[in-house]
Amino acid sequence: MNKAWWKESVIYQIYPRSFNDSNGDGIGDINGITEKIPYLSELGIDVIWLSPVYKSPNDDNGYDISDYRDIMDEFGTMLDFDIMLSKAHGHGIKIMMDLVVNHSSDEHDWFRESRKSKDNPYRDYYIWKKTDNGEPPTNWGAAFGGSVWEYDEQTSEFYLHLFSKKQPDLNWENPVLRNEVYEMMRFWLDKGIDGFRMDVINFISKDSSYPQGEIREGHKYGDGSKYYMNGPRIHEFLQEMNKEVLSQYDTITVGEMPGVTVEEGKLYTGDDRSELNMVFHFEHVGLGDGRFGKWDPHPWRLTELKEIFNKWQKGLEKGGWNSLYWSNHDQPRAISRWGNDSEEHRVTSGKMIATCLHLMQGTPYIYQGEEIGMTNVKFDNINDYRDIETLNAYRDLTSDSLTHDKIFKGIHERSRDNARTPVQWDASPNAGFTDGTPWINVNPNYEKINAEAAVKDEDSIFHYYKKLIQLRKQNEVIVYGTFDLVMEGDEQIFAFTRTLGGDQLLVICNFSNCTPIFKLPGNVRYTSKQLLISNLTADENEPIEEFPLMPYEARVYRLKK
Ligand code: NOJ
Repeated sequence: MNKAWWKESVIYQIYPRSFNDSNGDGIGDINGITEKIPYLSELGIDVIWLSPVYKSPNDDNGYDISDYRDIMDEFGTMLDFDIMLSKAHGHGIKIMMDLVVNHSSDEHDWFRESRKSKDNPYRDYYIWKKTDNGEPPTNWGAAFGGSVWEYDEQTSEFYLHLFSKKQPDLNWENPVLRNEVYEMMRFWLDKGIDGFRMDVINFISKDSSYPQGEIREGHKYGDGSKYYMNGPRIHEFLQEMNKEVLSQYDTITVGEMPGVTVEEGKLYTGDDRSELNMVFHFEHVGLGDGRFGKWDPHPWRLTELKEIFNKWQKGLEKGGWNSLYWSNHDQPRAISRWGNDSEEHRVTSGKMIATCLHLMQGTPYIYQGEEIGMTNVKFDNINDYRDIETLNAYRDLTSDSLTHDKIFKGIHERSRDNARTPVQWDASPNAGFTDGTPWINVNPNYEKINAEAAVKDEDSIFHYYKKLIQLRKQNEVIVYGTFDLVMEGDEQIFAFTRTLGGDQLLVICNFSNCTPIFKLPGNVRYTSKQLLISNLTADENEPIEEFPLMPYEARVYRLKK
């Protein structure tokens, strides 16, 4: 397998709005990030993925960009950015920027020009269609509710927006637009940033015949996704971007790709394909989705989760590469989703899920606050939520499809705002995030769960993450070893081996609050063993052929042949 620094790295995602506020306006900012670089350096991470800091009217918290070469006022200035970048580099930490080029803001100059007239030079930067009957060109529904088409009176045509109407889709069929994007990417790389996380990048090539989507039961709009996910020219566009930009720098790239399959994943990340380093797939985070997606969640089984990971681990084993994540700014908190956030099990289960993820093959991502075991929040009032997706879903679904209580269950389990409450730095008011009024309330559990307490406590989740990161640096098998499931059909235990030459690790994780029995299969042989890390005190000399696990217990052994 080819070695690469981005395979050996651990990445930490910062959602700047909620990270750390340095000037008391209630909104996290770039200087707030700079202040915390030593904290991240102590944790041991290698790369920061910075969610968008570009100029934006914030319809979707920065994922609607009005100037790709400038910084959002609330976040600071370009000078602040340069200082942050150099401080991060000074600590050996790289910066990966978010690249949001499936769409821009409707307040971007390109769009302001584009909508002026049909012969404006910027007209073809976006996707405009006219219809004879005044109906939208297709029945597709947008991610944040309503149609994907917005009628614009000025030129009597519709423009496409897969997200909100303030996020018009860019027209990648237009080579002039593509070059603008490449130039902008060079601008940031020349400044010294180290790579890009690319927002819904597998949506940029649309089926230009724009067929109708299938309307599923209980839904008002059609599902157009198969006409824009992994579309006809996607690989061509990414290869062009690679040739024009990425190949000329030493970068790290990850493509966010809803609806990507393993077969497509191999093409996007293949060593010989010159596209991207890795992709974020959505298969595990969609587990338990109901008829209305995440808003009516159902229980899921551990075998389903294992099947998904196994498929991706084995699928990309030769020549591709995986990204590994439990959470991000669009997902609930990792412990609440995959572990158990009760007082009794929070710390143990937080360490267990971290063990499971960091010991698989791929580049692990830590979402801000995950390293201190932050949990979902349960606001009772819809007015306490800020996320456009949550607010629109509440509006649309409570009137048509789900009861208030049902949708609130969905919001408490899966709303994006679970991940967007401010990082809990200490036990002072507003968790030390701000001296002002935070843009979204802090989780009331901050007096107990906060970074200051976690750093002081040697037994905390923070110190456990530190150890996992160090182990990765000391053991090549964690990065490059092959993955093989053990006890595949078990509904409580997620166990696997990692093998590189003569080196083998055995990873055992109990995802339940019961005490299931681990049984070592006959084909895993060893003469002696060493306990590398565990989240509870385990007796090093205990035989591992058959033994009971404590609730949420995790152990990693090195097996010597
Ligand atoms: C994916 C981003 O992660 C999400 O936060 C955003 O709302 C959409 N893409 C649209 O940019």
